[in-house]
Formats: sequence, structure tokens, C-alpha cells
Amino acid sequence: MITLQLIGIGTGNPDHLTLQAVKALNAADLILIPHKGDEKADLAQLRQDICADVLTRDVEIAEFTLPVRDPVITDYIDRVNHWHDAIADCWMTEINARPGVQNVALLVWGDPSLYDSTLRIAERVSKRVDLQLNVVPGITSMQGLTAAHQIPLNALGGAFQVTTGRQLRDHGWPADADRLVIMLDGHCAFQTLEPEGIHIWWGGFVGMPNEITISGPLTEVAQKITETRQRAKDDHGWIMDIYILERG
Ligand SMILES: C[S@@+](CC[C@H](N)C(=O)[O-])C[C@H]1O[C@@H](n2cnc3c(N)ncnc32)[C@H](O)[C@@H]1O
Repeated sequence: MITLQLIGIGTGNPDHLTLQAVKALNAADLILIPHKGDEKADLAQLRQDICADVLTRDVEIAEFTLPVRDPVITDYIDRVNHWHDAIADCWMTEINARPGVQNVALLVWGDPSLYDSTLRIAERVSKRVDLQLNVVPGITSMQGLTAAHQIPLNALGGAFQVTTGRQLRDHGWPADADRLVIMLDGHCAFQTLEPEGIHIWWGGFVGMPNEITISGPLTEVAQKITETRQRAKDDHGWIMDIYILERG
């Protein structure tokens, strides 16, 4: 029986780590860290730094190269499913290489429940090995964004919808929603909206030392956001950003 711990680590600030996360990391005997290639090497390094900061005992840390999505598979869902299979294979290879290992931990960006597939990959692994799963919640980028702007996530008594840049671009503003949280948007999908009457709260690298925030009516700040985002991406090599839109 292998215990697999999926540990939410927050969004890039080592101080986001909860005491529960620290305990879970120290209970592990193997920590797996994905390596995503050069431009995101600092994300692997951040995970290494977190481990160095909080581990009070000797725990083996194994970096593995994250497989890339197969460009030959044209259907998006098929391509992602195939990719998850390949990542599950990587986890199994690392675990099988260490026959005595009983408690394996993965540091999950933000929280494992939010636009993250670690749980889906764990389900694949559970079909191959007797697995006990332990999920440790983490601070999400949504919470990082609302904290940075000092705003509540919902309007008074209101609902909000969390979706992706791709959904917003392809299907427009969802019916029945006045407040949206947009994640995974590489192309500033807010530019596809009629900006009149929309307010935006945008954040890049939220929670991190180079956090950037911009907010205001979309008519006034859209261009500033796209330019700032591009500059930050050029300077840093990559960017993660998230935003809230409200209409009416
Ligand atoms: C694969 S999802 C992971 C989300 C993560 N599980 C969470 O709880 O926030 C990656 C997306 O989360 C958002 N994100 C994650 N970390 C962020 C950060 N530090 N600053 C801004 N956006 C972030 C971005 O929208 C990014 O495209």
C-alpha cells in the first residue's frame, strides 16, 4: 500500500504553505518534483526551496521530466488524456524504482481541486497500485488575486463563475453570470468582449515577489494590462495571470 499525498503549496509564496502541508511533507519518504523545461525551471526550484525550508528530516527528493503533450493528437481532450497517462507512467517509474517507498508526496501549485489534473493522474495510478490518497488543501490563485486587490470574491449575496480564457474567447460571456474569474488565459481573452460597463481586477504572479496588479474599467485599463503582461512575460520568460470581470 502506497500513501500518495497531494499537497497544495499556494501560488509561489513559500509563506502560503499551511502547517498541514509542512507536516505532510515531513511524513513523506519520497517527494516527486516535475521538471517542465528551462523557462519554468524556477517553478521546480521553488518546490526544491520549499522542501529545503520546511523538511526537518531526510526525505528523498526525485525530479522527473514532465512529458510534453503529443502534438500529433489533434483532439484537445484526447491529447490531455494521453498526456495524463504519460505522467502517471512517470510517477510509477519513480515509485517502482524504490521498492521500500510507502509515502509519496507531490507539491501541487495552488490547490489540487482548481484547474489542476494531479487528482486525475492519481486516479490512473490508483488503478495500478494499492493507493491511499491524502489531499492537503492550498491557497489558490483566486485567493491570491482577491487578497492582492483587497476585494471579496463575490458581490453581496451574488454568485461567481470560474472559467478559462479559452472558454471566454470561444463562447463569450456566460449567460446568468455577472462576475467571472478567468484563469489559464494566455491571450488576454477580455479583449474579445465589448468593454463598456465591465470592471476588471487583474493580477500577474500573485503572491510572488514580482506580483503586479491593475484594476479599473475595462475601457480604460485593457491596453495597460496587455502591455504590462507582455513586458512582464518578456522580462521573466513566462507569466501566470488571473483576473476577475464584473459587468453591470
Ligand atoms: C494550471 S492552473 C493551476 C491553478 C492552481 N491549482 C490554483 O489553485 O490556483 C494555472 C493557472 O492558475 C493561475 N495562477 C496560478 N498561479 C498564479 C499566480 N501566482 N498568479 C496569477 N495567476 C496564477 C493562472 O491563471 C494560471 O494560468
